Amino acid sequence: MKVLDAEFVQGFIRMADDGWQQGWHERNGGNLSYRVKPEEADSVKESFAPGEWKPIGVFVPELAGEYFLVTGSGKYFRNVIIKPEESIGLIELDGRGENYRIVWGLAGGGVPTSELPTHLMNHEVKKKQNEKYRVIYHAHTTNMIALTFVLPLKDEVFTRELWEMATECPVVFPDGVGVVPWMVPGGSRIAEATSELMKTYDLAVWAHHGMFAAGEDFDLTFGLMHTAEKSAEILVKMLSMRPDKLQTISPDNFRDLAKDFHVTLPEKFLYEKQ
Ligand code: 13P
Ligand code: ZN
Repeated sequence: MKVLDAEFVQGFIRMADDGWQQGWHERNGGNLSYRVKPEEADSVKESFAPGEWKPIGVFVPELAGEYFLVTGSGKYFRNVIIKPEESIGLIELDGRGENYRIVWGLAGGGVPTSELPTHLMNHEVKKKQNEKYRVIYHAHTTNMIALTFVLPLKDEVFTRELWEMATECPVVFPDGVGVVPWMVPGGSRIAEATSELMKTYDLAVWAHHGMFAAGEDFDLTFGLMHTAEKSAEILVKMLSMRPDKLQTISPDNFRDLAKDFHVTLPEKFLYEKQ
């Protein structure tokens, strides 16, 4: 089969375009990666033309030998749907999880996203927890970025405020949201900080930059990003009307919700406010 005909590639392209249409991917902002199933890689192998091995920049031994579909560095999400072979690529990791090579796509000298270290370290953490996790998504979500200028950069505060803005939030992300303080993007330090949070959460906010989401498939991962960003939008609107709330969802309301929806909500997020 041709790479572009494969269902996982079509799903990847659709998700990139959905993100563009949400307004989360100005210029080359954001990046997406998918851990390809062995049978999916086999189904498109006829089109592979392996390039040279290059260092990833981090060590991900648990992902040795795996294939990833990734967006390219400097490539525009807006163009993924019309120029997929230039905008995205399939990479293979070596037997030690130290180097990668492009086997398809990124035509014309492209390279994988500069956030490859964060993507792969997040994939490694998630794979160890649950083999089903396959998608890591980074988006420049406007409202969440705005909130990182006015809320304390604490997991507890972001989680609780987002949960309060939409009843579905604690059900969609019951483990909460982690927050990475501002750091230089694109390297191993921010990759380590983010993957540490991914041990606890499926969502990590990058202060003054965007968000990372992890999930089992394209629908769940896009849905998670969308739900969190919508909640952030409601919070921005609420704070724009007045600085305080007249009424909200209380800690006991959350405890009742947790019982009926069969989720466990960590008590650290259900603190009493001053
Ligand atoms: P890339 O174009 O290298 O993927 O970088 C975009 C980005 O959002 C960096 O954080
Ligand atoms: Zn970014």
